[in-house]
Amino acid sequence: MKLSTQMYSYVLTCALTGLATVPATAEPIVIKLSHVVAVNTPKGQGAERFKKLAEERTQGRVKIEVYPNSQLFKDKEDIEAMQLGSVQMLIETTSKFGPVGAKEFEVFDLPFITPDRDSFLRVADGPIGKKMLQSLEKYGIKGLAFWDAGFRVMSANRPLHRLADYKGLKMRINSSRVIDAQMRALGAIPQTLAFSEVYQGLQTGVVDGQENVMSNLWVNKFFEVQKHISITHHSHLAYAVIANKKFWDGLPDDIRTLLEGAVRDSTTYANQLGAEEEIDSIEKIKASGRSTIYVPSKAEIDELKKATSPLYQMMEGRLGRDNIAAVVKAAGGGVP
Ligand code: LMR
Repeated sequence: MKLSTQMYSYVLTCALTGLATVPATAEPIVIKLSHVVAVNTPKGQGAERFKKLAEERTQGRVKIEVYPNSQLFKDKEDIEAMQLGSVQMLIETTSKFGPVGAKEFEVFDLPFITPDRDSFLRVADGPIGKKMLQSLEKYGIKGLAFWDAGFRVMSANRPLHRLADYKGLKMRINSSRVIDAQMRALGAIPQTLAFSEVYQGLQTGVVDGQENVMSNLWVNKFFEVQKHISITHHSHLAYAVIANKKFWDGLPDDIRTLLEGAVRDSTTYANQLGAEEEIDSIEKIKASGRSTIYVPSKAEIDELKKATSPLYQMMEGRLGRDNIAAVVKAAGGGVP
């Protein structure tokens, strides 16, 4: 065999330095990862951590391109884009899975179903969560992990203390039918808007209020256009790290294993950051003086619980009776 001068010198270098005989020009596997929030949120930072770990551990055989802030796709479009293969991975709010068909994911939106962080993680990281992630395969989606974005709070331009305060408010929601029913049970008028449109929607009065985690209120400056925030902690905002199943299954085994490890470690990181940022964002918003932060009394929370309790039965058809019962049992939450 006659080698070109260039190839000859490459083989010689490999032999002398003990390098693997993979040509240095081998193209890395590119993974486009899209999400809708800012880089400096727990999700944004978790995505960056995943990129770092994945690239380091695969020694450059994989390149992760992170697209934050709905740069490529907005809510809903992004799941379709991933199913079609335009992006390979997403970190997506589970309250947006309904339109794909995965309605059971809205179980996390049932008001007060996960009373604290541990109860959420018991469900998400336990057998129920595993089964839910597996159930995505029929939609061409590989479910890799749940992330805990923290508790949702309510905000508006009027104080939200009593149930009556929600009456008639146009509240921006994710596409979840459970959240839609929740807002109606509170006497509000739900309106689905993509995340990228929320700030402007609040500013121009398209909607009066919204529910979200504190870090999104802070980083995306919703507090500038919302005078009152009520720490209702009525549900957890859950994320799922998901991939195009065909793409994921087609990865070389060793690469897939390394990426799964990177997902695991970035999950731990993002969950911890989520918990820290929740507290931090409250402090920063308080210090800004732009919004009041109100902690409802037990009696006020009980009023919200009572108003929303019929949802547990109303949503049996959508979420599955057994599914709701299993989550209630594992989480130790639910409403009276
Ligand atoms: C929202 O749409 O409000 C959230 O799901 C955004 C996010 O991903 O945290």
